[in-house]
Amino acid sequence: MCGIVGYIGTQQAAPLLLEGLTRLEHRGYDSAGLAVLGATSSSSLKVAKKAGRVRDLQGDLPKRFAGKVGIGHTRWATHGPANDVNAHPHVDAKGDVAVVHNGIIDNASTLRQQLTADGVTLASDTDTEVLAHLIGRSSAETLEGRVAEALAQVDGTYGLAVVHADFPDRIVVARNGSPLIIGVGEKEMLVASDLAALVRHTTTVAHLEDGELATLTASGFTTYRTDLTRAPREATEVDVDPSAYELSGEGEHESFMHQEMREQPAAAERVLRGRLDERFGTAHLGGLNMDARETRAIRRVKILGCGSAYYVGQMGASLIEELARIPADAEAASEFRYRDPVIEADTLYVAVSQSGETIDTLLAVQEIRRKGGRVIGLVNVVGSAIAREVDGGIYLHSGPEVAVASTKALTNMFLGFSLLALQLGRVRDLSIADGKRLIGALTTLPEQMGEVLEQEDALAEVARTLAEAESLFFVGRVRGFPVAREGAQKFKEISYRHAEAYQTSELKHGPLALISPDVPTVAIVPADELTDRNVGALHEIAARGGPLVVVTHADVDLGEVVCTRIDVPRSERELDPILLTIPLQLLAYHAALHLGHDIDKPRNLAKSVTVE
Ligand code: F6R
Repeated sequence: MCGIVGYIGTQQAAPLLLEGLTRLEHRGYDSAGLAVLGATSSSSLKVAKKAGRVRDLQGDLPKRFAGKVGIGHTRWATHGPANDVNAHPHVDAKGDVAVVHNGIIDNASTLRQQLTADGVTLASDTDTEVLAHLIGRSSAETLEGRVAEALAQVDGTYGLAVVHADFPDRIVVARNGSPLIIGVGEKEMLVASDLAALVRHTTTVAHLEDGELATLTASGFTTYRTDLTRAPREATEVDVDPSAYELSGEGEHESFMHQEMREQPAAAERVLRGRLDERFGTAHLGGLNMDARETRAIRRVKILGCGSAYYVGQMGASLIEELARIPADAEAASEFRYRDPVIEADTLYVAVSQSGETIDTLLAVQEIRRKGGRVIGLVNVVGSAIAREVDGGIYLHSGPEVAVASTKALTNMFLGFSLLALQLGRVRDLSIADGKRLIGALTTLPEQMGEVLEQEDALAEVARTLAEAESLFFVGRVRGFPVAREGAQKFKEISYRHAEAYQTSELKHGPLALISPDVPTVAIVPADELTDRNVGALHEIAARGGPLVVVTHADVDLGEVVCTRIDVPRSERELDPILLTIPLQLLAYHAALHLGHDIDKPRNLAKSVTVE
């Protein structure tokens, strides 16, 4: 959430910073800003910032905006509305210090009062501005000393970058809870909150840890603890393909979400590759760091994630219960920590996250580890905070996900859970025959995903009708319920229509009162042990005039129910949820497209939620 980029070197900073911000815009897009410094101590700090997108800032940049040192920011508002004044960078009273910041300063209001009492006039509503003033007022001799002195006064989370007109040869950065990655170039250094802004310039990077500061000069970087003792950190090569962060060159996709949905079969192949053992009907997940004896000792599985990752976690819990017969459930990580959870030694905790930076999930992981629990991660971003914090895990290999609405990462989360359930099952009572049955089905899934994606034109037509409704239901039962939740989530996220998920069985206990010709229902009706009951509920909806879209299998007999039918290929019933989910992504996407929304940057949201 919020994007930070910084540059120091031999080139003009502003164009590089703007390009970096464009690549980070999915992390926040309500305003953007830059600060640059010339090379001499007489050169003054120049700041340009503006509400709106990076392109608005670019169009408005003053002609004279030269400097080879600079920092930039793209904002997701926490304190104060999205306007020019609240945009970052924030400056001190003299205009010498500029700060960009991700995270939240919890004691900002106390610090604002203290600064005001000392005669400082605060220009913005933000928590970040206090940092600029605290650094500006410090009398420490070095910029590092000033930043450390300011940070000693704040409680909260931050990833921040600071430039100061009196120290034009450096950028000082600091991290506590919000990611910062240093990029090492040839006579130039960069810093960013996300690899996406670095990879076109360098793949030699160093991750700053919580509680660390770093100084970047054109010739290198130095890392410190907050007491300014050295904390040496090596830069390493990351194995990334910069083109994976781009829209494909052929103009085939008008948005990252479209590209990422279409990538799902290939991404699915990657997460399964090398992990299926056909001979023994099991999965190989070396990264779990658990032997068979430890695996057998697990009595319960608790899955933690946020938003869509939480809904996929519910799908994962079903898979684990069904295949391994271990009691399993999923909980919103954002709530878990606050109920002082009982952590059990024989429970396996699983944190699931695309970004690996979601603060609610990270804090849940830290709570479990503090209490001595074992936690593994299902994470997409290699080397991210959650990936580094857990006892073991499964990387999802989806490739970079840029669209705010998650698609290919969620699919790979489901497959990650399938692999985990298979491995847990096979050290317990799942037979080798069942293991092989599931491996056969998993191997076929990528192709079947492709078949669902081929129905895009038909789904687009259905989506255009659904887009006309102000309010919709998504319903499913047992395995189908998290599918409905995820479908509703995608739909509301990008179409801004009110979409509510319910267990089909619960409709008659209340929500049926809302069914009318104006309120369509998207129902998940797989061929399984509940088909008849689901079809019964469809009759009840139809009898009340509710329009129906039914996502089902070709051999399901829907009887006389009047509906729009979407058939998906059948897998093994444990794995059906993922094939039932993909059409819902396309419905949401085409509804949003029809309504003319910015699909990759839905209003009020941002990728990687690094604030609580
Ligand atoms: C929905 C969506 C969010 C994320 C959630 C968790 O499409 O993208 O609900 O799933 O913010 O994010 P990660 O997986 O990065 O922890």
